[in-house]
Amino acid sequence: MATLFPTYNRFPFELISGEGVTVFDQEGNSYLDLTSGIGVCNLGYNVKQLNEAVTAQLGQIWHTSNLYESHLQEEVAEKLTQGTEKVVFFCNSGTEANEAALKLARKATGKTKILSFAHSFHGRSVGSLSLTGNEKIKEGFGDLLSDVTFVAYNDFHSLQAITSEYAAVIVEVIQGEGGMTAGEADWLEALDAECKEKGVLLIIDEVQTGIGRTGKLFAYQHYALDPDIVTSAKGLANGIPVGAMIGKKELAAAFSAGTHGTTFGGNPLAMAAANQVLTIIDDEFLEAVTQKADLFWYYLEKELSDIEFVEGISGKGLMIGIHLAKELPVADVIQALHQEGILTLSAHGNTLRLLPPLVIKGAELIEASQKIKQVLQTSMVHQ
Ligand SMILES: Cc1ncc(COP(=O)(O)O)c(C=O)c1O
Repeated sequence: MATLFPTYNRFPFELISGEGVTVFDQEGNSYLDLTSGIGVCNLGYNVKQLNEAVTAQLGQIWHTSNLYESHLQEEVAEKLTQGTEKVVFFCNSGTEANEAALKLARKATGKTKILSFAHSFHGRSVGSLSLTGNEKIKEGFGDLLSDVTFVAYNDFHSLQAITSEYAAVIVEVIQGEGGMTAGEADWLEALDAECKEKGVLLIIDEVQTGIGRTGKLFAYQHYALDPDIVTSAKGLANGIPVGAMIGKKELAAAFSAGTHGTTFGGNPLAMAAANQVLTIIDDEFLEAVTQKADLFWYYLEKELSDIEFVEGISGKGLMIGIHLAKELPVADVIQALHQEGILTLSAHGNTLRLLPPLVIKGAELIEASQKIKQVLQTSMVHQ
């Protein structure tokens, strides 16, 4: 890795193939994947329907610029908007989707101030980093956007900060990178109401929570929420880079021709994959996700209840954080799980983050919860 910028701490193995929910390294070791990339391969690996759709598109045309019509973009947009009065802008990542949301909110309202939350994560470009509530990753990059205010998440006092001076509030329904904290229903709904009352746009960042992860296409659909803008990426094309910003139709005029754009956004390969992803994730699929999530939560809570170093479990659906006491560093647990053939992630606050592919079977989740228990027990002994 001598010729790459050292921006990532990498584990000393390479994943070279995958099948279903199992991935294989260069030495033939297999791992049960509880990461989906980082919430990307929601439908698992080597998925026949997706491979066929992308291969068929590959043989037709790889790229067309956005100077021409795209029936594929229209089809994906129809599936994303689910018959509502909304329109979509396609880009290539979650960061770009949030960048687009920031620009649209400012242009549509004529205001510049944005309210965001402590421990939020919205990306690493200058705009999206400005919206991110994590000081550590902002260090050394100079002045970011000055008119972003951060308030506490899940805190009713924070809502008093919302005034008509703001263009928008941006929020994750479950803070992912920030520690797998689920927004409380009452608080999220009060936030929505406050935005409506003050004439402030509500942007919901569904980059990690969306595309079926919590048992709904978007996590906000569990609640009485009516966002003006929703951003999506990660799982949308199951691993082909894509991002989408979905906005209410009345905002469309602010993004008139020439105001915003991207060379690769909505490219045919990503759209072919996204079209299939959204075909597969139907009501029956989402119901199965809910049932599997209930099973996993039941087993995790049962298996981990008597483990001293587990301080709690949070999240929603198949987006789960296991909070570990500081005596047991999450990095050590992740490595011990590698030895047991399981891939997991971390999140802020010494949290073990689980984002399994949504196609994982109940039996695999039960086995995973037992192995996690075993590894945590063994790690405790070694402390
Ligand atoms: C909630 C949220 N927003 C935005 C992003 C940035 O997405 P990307 O890495 O695709 O730019 C992420 C990535 O982890 C995320 O979790």
